[in-house]
Amino acid sequence: MLAEQLPPLSTREALKTKAIEAARLAGAILNEHARHGFRVEHKDAVNLVTDADRRAEQAIVDVIKHDYPTHQILAEERGLLEGTPSLYKWVIDPLDGTTNFAHGYPAYCVSIGLEYQGRCILGVVFDPTRQELFVAEAGGGAFLNGTPIHVSHTPKLDAALLVTGFAYDIRESPQNNLDHFARFALRAQGVRRTGSAALDLCYVSAGRFDGFWELKLHPWDTAAGALIVTEAGGQVTDLAGDPFSIYRKEIVASNGLIHDEMLEVLREP
Ligand code: IPD
Ligand code: CA
Ligand code: CA
Repeated sequence: MLAEQLPPLSTREALKTKAIEAARLAGAILNEHARHGFRVEHKDAVNLVTDADRRAEQAIVDVIKHDYPTHQILAEERGLLEGTPSLYKWVIDPLDGTTNFAHGYPAYCVSIGLEYQGRCILGVVFDPTRQELFVAEAGGGAFLNGTPIHVSHTPKLDAALLVTGFAYDIRESPQNNLDHFARFALRAQGVRRTGSAALDLCYVSAGRFDGFWELKLHPWDTAAGALIVTEAGGQVTDLAGDPFSIYRKEIVASNGLIHDEMLEVLREP
């Protein structure tokens, strides 16, 4: 992205500070609920929401609105809050990995992305269990707790550790990703399903996974993580290999070296 397509540096610094503050605050709320309990509701048979999701989201929205009252906000539990027309749009998942959280399985995070003129310029993902903070700015590289991160150098699919996820309509939809999962299980070194798409993307960025794919994600799942992958030197596309958009549901993210092999497997009938 060209420098003139970005807000001024001082504005970018302030936005990053705010996003990190909001993510850490939401993470502290999740930790508090993990220790002291929470109520669980069913959105449908397998899709849960807890009061931790809602409280964390409220805290993030309050922090952002305090400093940036005119910015648009798209947040999972409340949908789109239209401000006055704004060049900025925050895209928020207050708790990515709700099923894990509800079961006490410590693999979940807070994800905050920021669009400027329709492009993602900032991604912040915070894992409150491990206190891992992933941050990327467009053109500025990707960082884990302040240290630069890079995707892996694994050259081939058969040596790759992949990760994926399944949508909440897995019981009803024939497009349930089980066919792709079965194929990759036979072709890759291993395939994992962690239950947090935003963390999966960050782990690709840090070289812990070599590739990730999923079919039915939402903008709040990928807004931060997709930018973090590209800023860590990785590649992000749709299943056809075309440019990725957070508003299209499918994603393939990798270290770049195994990307074509992944796309080939995903194209197999
Ligand atoms: C889910 C997680 C999961 C992915 C699902 C998402 P949520 O988000 O990211 O890994 O497989 O598709 O919906 O509901 O825990 O925020
Ligand atoms: Ca999510
Ligand atoms: Ca969520």
